[in-house]
Amino acid sequence: MTQTTRIVLSSDHAAIDLRQALAAHIAAKGWEVEDIGPTTPESTHYPDHGAAAARRVASGDCRFGIILCGTGQGIMMAANKVKGIRCGVCSDTFSARMIREHNDANMLSIGARVVDEARAIELVDAFLDAEFEGGRHATRVDLIKALED
Ligand code: RB5
Repeated sequence: MTQTTRIVLSSDHAAIDLRQALAAHIAAKGWEVEDIGPTTPESTHYPDHGAAAARRVASGDCRFGIILCGTGQGIMMAANKVKGIRCGVCSDTFSARMIREHNDANMLSIGARVVDEARAIELVDAFLDAEFEGGRHATRVDLIKALED
């Protein structure tokens, strides 16, 4: 079965501008972008937005999810509560690459109050341009999946 090339983005109020910049960048890389907001700056709740994006990935409708809040931490915690989600929060490109290569992460979380736009774009590129290596790493990812049952 061919995997979708759709990527879902969401954030809380702390990351709207950065999320929209990343959405444009990801679309320019050739991915189909589903930006599920929010679009207005009222204070909102990051668990709702993390879960909404995570469900789009867990269902298979989206290949990856990119989520943001102030630190990236809270929305990452919420996303990881959804079965099938492996989300890491990254501020360095080595980690953003490695969570794909070793952990088969399907979501990346970014802190809009931690990194600037240029770094966020580097993180997205490192994440999306990497491939899961499988092998011994698949054994370990299977152990993560077993914890969900
Ligand atoms: C919102 O003020 C802030 O708490 C949120 O964006 C995030 O940093 C939580 O982890």
